[in-house]
Amino acid sequence: MKDVVEKLGYEVELRVEGKAKFYVPKLPSEKGYAPTSLPVFFNPVSKPNRDMAILFAKTFFRDKRIKICEPLAGTGVRSIRLVLETDVVDEVVANDISKRAYELMKLNIELNNVGEYVKPMNLDANELLSMCGRGRPRYSYVDIDPAGSPAKFMENGFRGCDRGGALSATATDMSALTGAKPTSCLRKYDVIVSRTPFSKEVALRILAGFMVRTAARLGLAAKPILSFQKDHYVKVFTVVDRGITKAKEMLKMIGWISYCHKCMRIHAARRDEKPVMKCIECGGELSYIGPLWIGGLSDKDLIEKMYREALEDQELYRDVLKLLQSLRAENSEIIGYYPVNYVAEILKQSPVKPRRMIEELKAMGYRATVTHIDPSGFKTDAPPSIIVKLFKELKLKS
Ligand SMILES: C[S@@+](CC[C@H](N)C(=O)[O-])C[C@H]1O[C@@H](n2cnc3c(N)ncnc32)[C@H](O)[C@@H]1O
Ligand SMILES: [Zn+2]
Repeated sequence: MKDVVEKLGYEVELRVEGKAKFYVPKLPSEKGYAPTSLPVFFNPVSKPNRDMAILFAKTFFRDKRIKICEPLAGTGVRSIRLVLETDVVDEVVANDISKRAYELMKLNIELNNVGEYVKPMNLDANELLSMCGRGRPRYSYVDIDPAGSPAKFMENGFRGCDRGGALSATATDMSALTGAKPTSCLRKYDVIVSRTPFSKEVALRILAGFMVRTAARLGLAAKPILSFQKDHYVKVFTVVDRGITKAKEMLKMIGWISYCHKCMRIHAARRDEKPVMKCIECGGELSYIGPLWIGGLSDKDLIEKMYREALEDQELYRDVLKLLQSLRAENSEIIGYYPVNYVAEILKQSPVKPRRMIEELKAMGYRATVTHIDPSGFKTDAPPSIIVKLFKELKLKS
């Protein structure tokens, strides 16, 4: 350890995550420190994010050997784990603009004996990704994982991604995406946003929509196939195809959401329609959110396969089993959700169990499911009048 500290010039600690062992800067003992303040970025809380990327690569690229690019790699742990925990990696480029990150990655690659597969690089992510294409190879999987917004890397991310490949992006700028800082959202994503009871899902839909719109500008069709919100971030995986017709097809599911704070009605409209400005339920005036993705956020079959992979190695993927279970049960085509406490507050009564609401709504023929974002929430396409009626009835029964 002493020689490592001397070489790097800062205190380190050895960690184990998945099948990788690796050095990270010594983490402060107090909670709530900013990982960006470390000599090299590392956030142990993001393990589930890495787990999901690994399970995705394992499942989506099964029986293939692919080139992967992690343009913002930090300690390199994600890239190293991709090699150690999947059979799909031919080569993974682990890049970081920070010289310190680059030096640490080299050590970690050596420590895990994966030098044959992991290529460390020390470039600006945009420089690296924009070099792809026009005769130069692209990557089958690009995983954009910045601290903050991925917006400025998105266009080059798609340039660097193979047709038939996948691009995933994490965003941690939740205050912009959930409507706490609307001007920041407008600047970075060109999206008008305001608060709703389901703002975290709005955040996911804004990121998914931004990816679809960015790809379309380049004549590419990006289809969201796996999306989730966890802890301090949202993450969306898209599969990338070539063709203007296909890109236009994807744009059909870009649109607007208008939420009525008076009666709880959620409205959606497509991009080529006008956003709904007057509530169809109560006539109240509405403001709209968008443009964002109004289609399904995840592919059921992919989630099922990832869940099975995770079950096979529960020791490694225990942290994401619950998340995958909720994603399996969720119908991501239904827009928004209602936290029971929110409904209870509006109706001035005590909350009802979300599971009971879902059962009853289904029995009445409406679509209704859980949401992975909030265990106290339920998703449904039932109108608010039905939700209110049921909520009151169930309260009387309990
Ligand atoms: C959130 S961390 C990456 C964490 C890593 N992906 C993981 O799973 O542990 C973001 C990293 O991006 C790097 N970075 C910031 N701007 C960059 C740029 N323009 N090009 C390349 N890397 C950049 C930072 O040095 C930092 O290490
Ligand atoms: Zn209304």
